[in-house]
Amino acid sequence: MAAFAGRTTKQALLRAKPAFVNQKATLVSLRGKNGKKVAWLLGSLAVGGGTVVATALAQPAFASDLVLHPPKFPWTHNGHLAALDHASVRRGYEVYKQVCAACHSMKYLCYRNLVNVIMTEDEAKAEAEEALVEDGPNDAGEMFERPGKLSDHFPDPYKNDEQARAANNGALPPDLSYIVLARHGGEDYIFSLLTGYSDPPAGVKLMEGQHFNAYFPGGAIGMAQALYNEIIEYSDGTPATQSQLAKDVATFLKWAGEPEHDVRKLYGFRALIILSFLIGVTYYMKRHKWSVLKSRKLAFKPPSYK
Ligand code: HEC
Repeated sequence: MAAFAGRTTKQALLRAKPAFVNQKATLVSLRGKNGKKVAWLLGSLAVGGGTVVATALAQPAFASDLVLHPPKFPWTHNGHLAALDHASVRRGYEVYKQVCAACHSMKYLCYRNLVNVIMTEDEAKAEAEEALVEDGPNDAGEMFERPGKLSDHFPDPYKNDEQARAANNGALPPDLSYIVLARHGGEDYIFSLLTGYSDPPAGVKLMEGQHFNAYFPGGAIGMAQALYNEIIEYSDGTPATQSQLAKDVATFLKWAGEPEHDVRKLYGFRALIILSFLIGVTYYMKRHKWSVLKSRKLAFKPPSYK
């Protein structure tokens, strides 16, 4: 149908074209024997337009379209020269460890990654030793558990995805290592999601184990609200309000997904300084080398045959 409408419209346009070459002819053609052509053109346009509108109206509405986009928050690391707020990253690790780690793994992070970012090497060693890691097999061919080392990855709260689903009403808690890069809106989305729980609006039915969150595509999320005021106590004494917890854990997740963030901006800044210097030198050298060619004068001197 659309193809037919398109073809007819195109043909009509093509046929009508000569009439538009000069205005006088067009006026004549409206009244004259070309009237049929104009009627054809208008008819085809109506059919074409109708088809476009009908196609647009026939688009189904997906539940995943019903999503609230997170606002852009004024993170302290926004901007080309701003580094991450490392006190916030440290607090965010406390939130992850004490709240989120019960359900979410961060399997691409090792304890050694914490050194000099979140804690000292000795503290990180002690932190790793708190975790029991499965290792082996030993001489008897059996797996055994030992205290963690700096080179170990963060432990997974569940043995496998099936166990994780079984414990969460069938919803799989995603690994959080790169979640900031894996979701539209990045840390804005994480913050909005964690603070965006509310009662479902009238008419929205949730299944058992689902909660309403306007920022989650579709609105029904399998994760219960995880952050409340004072749910943990910060070691640096910062008041642990819900928004503070959400902001800190989002900053921590930003660091986890992009640990090179600060160095990248620093190197970018240095590269710009060096390049701007080099551009000046290059411009000068270009003028210097080309000056002979640019300022020469070519003249044709006819040979004289005397
Ligand atoms: C009780 C278990 C539990 C806790 C605690 C928990 N989550 Fe979740 N989380 C889930 C489950 C289950 C899902 C999957 C939800 C779904 O797909 O419907 C999820 C999904 C997510 C998602 C992905 C949403 C998306 O767009 O797909 C993010 C981000 C997230 N959680 C962050 C966190 C953070 C940060 C914390 C700690 C403050 C946390 N969660 C604590 C169970 C939990």
